[in-house]
Amino acid sequence: MIVCTSREEISSAVEQIRKQGRSLGFIPTMGALHQGHISLVKKSIADNDCTAVSVFVNPTQFNNPNDLKTYPRTVDADIALLEATGADIAFIPSVETMYPEGLENVTESYDFGAIGAVMEGAARPGHFNGVGIVVHRLFDLVKPDRAYFGMKDFQQIAIIREMVRQRNINIEIIPCPIVREADGLALSSRNTRLNEEQRKQAVQISQTLFKAAELTNKYSLPELKSFVINTVNSVPLLDVEYFEIVDGYTMQPVNSWNEATWIVGCITVNVGDVRLIDNITLKQ
Ligand code: PAF
Repeated sequence: MIVCTSREEISSAVEQIRKQGRSLGFIPTMGALHQGHISLVKKSIADNDCTAVSVFVNPTQFNNPNDLKTYPRTVDADIALLEATGADIAFIPSVETMYPEGLENVTESYDFGAIGAVMEGAARPGHFNGVGIVVHRLFDLVKPDRAYFGMKDFQQIAIIREMVRQRNINIEIIPCPIVREADGLALSSRNTRLNEEQRKQAVQISQTLFKAAELTNKYSLPELKSFVINTVNSVPLLDVEYFEIVDGYTMQPVNSWNEATWIVGCITVNVGDVRLIDNITLKQ
């Protein structure tokens, strides 16, 4: 595996692959890699001749400085895991490499319309703009044929599809299923920040979503929404920031079962100062 840190290194590694006529899959990550990321890497390895993975904690997508400061960073372990999994390139740029103009001079601006105005877009102002900026810059450098994203960040996939559409980028976006712990908790780099008791109680997030998926024949959408919010909030260390039931294509809230063909419940829960997200398809 080649480890690249500079623009020149990643460009020359990608050029070699292109010259040889080989296909390239790409997984952008913020590191602290877990089996969720690794499932994306394995899918890319199966689909493509070569696989590149970026590890970059992107400052422009954090609206909360403490969240950025405490985001887990485990670069050496990430490199070892990527090597063991069979990735071909690890791209680990610095902030200066990704933002040579300086963070205060970053000017790109995206309008994702209604898709970006709800849920994470409403709760984290500027977050999706930062995601759009960094993913576009990474796509420009890595120039992959396909890019892989986990469905835990459900709205993010819609944002990236919209960015690719708006900027006419010829890269196939491949959504991949959520990977869960044995008890159901969605894998997340942030899980490592939970203490023992928080981790024990966090399982109720996914368990409540699973239960909600079993109640779809019994409950209206407003009833299901109340059920999820009340059940999760009844767990002492869990605090629901939002639970929205949305059209899986447009991300807009729906109020009745026949309003959309694909209906997804998306939740964000604060467990102490750790913010966890999860989602479940309720109709498809
Ligand atoms: O999902 C993530 O880890 C990040 O939002 C991404 C896509 C790597 C951009 O920084």
